[in-house]
Amino acid sequence: MSSDIQLSLFGESNINQKDQIPTDAKIPIPAGTYTNMTELAQHCNQCQRCELGQTRTHAVVGRGNLNAPIMIVGEAPGQSEDETGLPFVGRSGQLLEKILASVNLSTEQDVYIGNINKCRPPNNRVPTPNEMAACIPYLLEQIRLVDPQIILLTGATAVKGLTGEKQGITKIRGQWIEWEGRLCMPIFHPSYLLRNPSKEKGSPKWLMWQDIQAVRAKYDEIAGDR
Ligand code: URA
Repeated sequence: MSSDIQLSLFGESNINQKDQIPTDAKIPIPAGTYTNMTELAQHCNQCQRCELGQTRTHAVVGRGNLNAPIMIVGEAPGQSEDETGLPFVGRSGQLLEKILASVNLSTEQDVYIGNINKCRPPNNRVPTPNEMAACIPYLLEQIRLVDPQIILLTGATAVKGLTGEKQGITKIRGQWIEWEGRLCMPIFHPSYLLRNPSKEKGSPKWLMWQDIQAVRAKYDEIAGDR
């Protein structure tokens, strides 16, 4: 018996499945649910899959080129992001833009930016495992829609949220990981660099400079192969 007929037996054949999705974390969001980022963003702004939905001003979905070859994944919005609805627009974001510009990358052309969690955790605390699990399906859909070849994971939460890898960021930063056919590189979160301003050899900022140059080189290599 088809699932449509089964549903109609219960008098529910007109239920639009998509409209049910955001309300409950138990309802999965299968790959292919959204045909574009606008639809996805509308759902995120109605979403109550976790309790962060109750305190957000705006869901923060993404910004940048929707067909970018490089995607950057952060942790969760902070205050400026919650207020504007755009990721990485506060101090961390300004530093991130500078890092990208240092190797001639930009959100207008090469990069799309999103986060593990779309809503701001109170007092900028790290999202809980449940909050991350509730929100990850949106990120997976964003990755499917943008279809980047390279994904940069900023900080341990982004690495753990997407790949499940639990090793500390200091250990794994700068190393390419293959995830679902895409090349991912864990890098330091820009807020960590703001707290560690030294540029000396071996410092977090110096290491970030090595990593972003490796990203640029890989991007050029991939472009050369096309
Ligand atoms: N930090 C993040 O991880 N994401 C943002 O969008 C802003 C700050």
